[in-house]
Amino acid sequence: MAKRRVGILTGGGDAPGLNGIIEASSRALIQAGYEVIGIMDGYEGIFNNRYRDLTADVVHGVHIDAGTLLGTSNKTWIAGRADEFNANYKKLNVEGLIVAGGDGTFAGLSELGDKIVPAIGVPKTIDNDLAGTEVTFGYDTACSVIAEAADALRTTANAHRRIMIIEAMGRTAGWLALGGGLAGYADVILIPERPFSKEALLKSIKEKQKTSRGLVMVVAEGAFAKGESPHVAFKVKGSPQEERYGGVAEMLARWIEAETGWESRHVVLGHLQRSKAPTTTDRFLTLTMGVEVAKMVQDHAWGQAVVYRDGRVQRAQLTELMQPARLVDKDHRWVQLAQALGIFI
Ligand code: F6P
Repeated sequence: MAKRRVGILTGGGDAPGLNGIIEASSRALIQAGYEVIGIMDGYEGIFNNRYRDLTADVVHGVHIDAGTLLGTSNKTWIAGRADEFNANYKKLNVEGLIVAGGDGTFAGLSELGDKIVPAIGVPKTIDNDLAGTEVTFGYDTACSVIAEAADALRTTANAHRRIMIIEAMGRTAGWLALGGGLAGYADVILIPERPFSKEALLKSIKEKQKTSRGLVMVVAEGAFAKGESPHVAFKVKGSPQEERYGGVAEMLARWIEAETGWESRHVVLGHLQRSKAPTTTDRFLTLTMGVEVAKMVQDHAWGQAVVYRDGRVQRAQLTELMQPARLVDKDHRWVQLAQALGIFI
């Protein structure tokens, strides 16, 4: 009997843990007698017929690294090319695809309409804002980068009697700034879900100025003041979400310094948040998800996704990942934690 064969691809912005998904799902599938191929550079690899064999020796140990062994792309290439996609997919001679990606990647699949291919979804983003799952891998690692930056920058803030403002990623969601800011005990955390009052922020900073040598603020790239809008730095044509946010930390540093006389500097963490080796939490999550995905392949659970809910990895419909972004509830229990600590949020 011919060997059963499955493809795996990674799409969207990279997130620490993608290699863990590749290693865990491939190893569990190989154990179960499958042949696994890795499609290169997300959907691009389907159009270009570029893939590599994922044998045990190829995937062994890759879980350690951030990035993705298979390459990725956060531009959608499917719109208007469903027939071409479908014809090329058939040439791969696989039972279906394991697709690890974000909202743009899954929206891409929905563009196939009635030409949909058998797929199992694996939710991924450092932003932690995918619908249908309570946490995405990469988030914990990215939060640790923010918390470590807050810890480190507090030393220079105190040395120079300055405010250090850290800009975190996250697009329209504040999960990264909130999680990383809390873990680093930042003095101020600004997130898009809670547009801030400029007056109240200045009042709080002036108050803290009386007792603190330095201050650390963590600001989401999408954060904005009441009555204003998020700072769009530039647009990426062809990307499912064209806006790239940025610039709010620098703007705040100049404005706060002018208003309070407290010298301020800003640091944009940018893609460092996506580039660190996965934490143990992210490793365990991807290991568990990868093994579940391999079981799903054996159960022919096409059209479904692996998610994390109620404290464990489980299955859901793939369409549940295609819903609008999951934002921080403005009175979320983590917001209350910050308030209890006297953090301005
Ligand atoms: O969605 C993940 C993310 O890292 C966002 O937090 C950030 O705004 C965006 O991607 C950056 O995209 P790019 O890789 O195109 O710079």
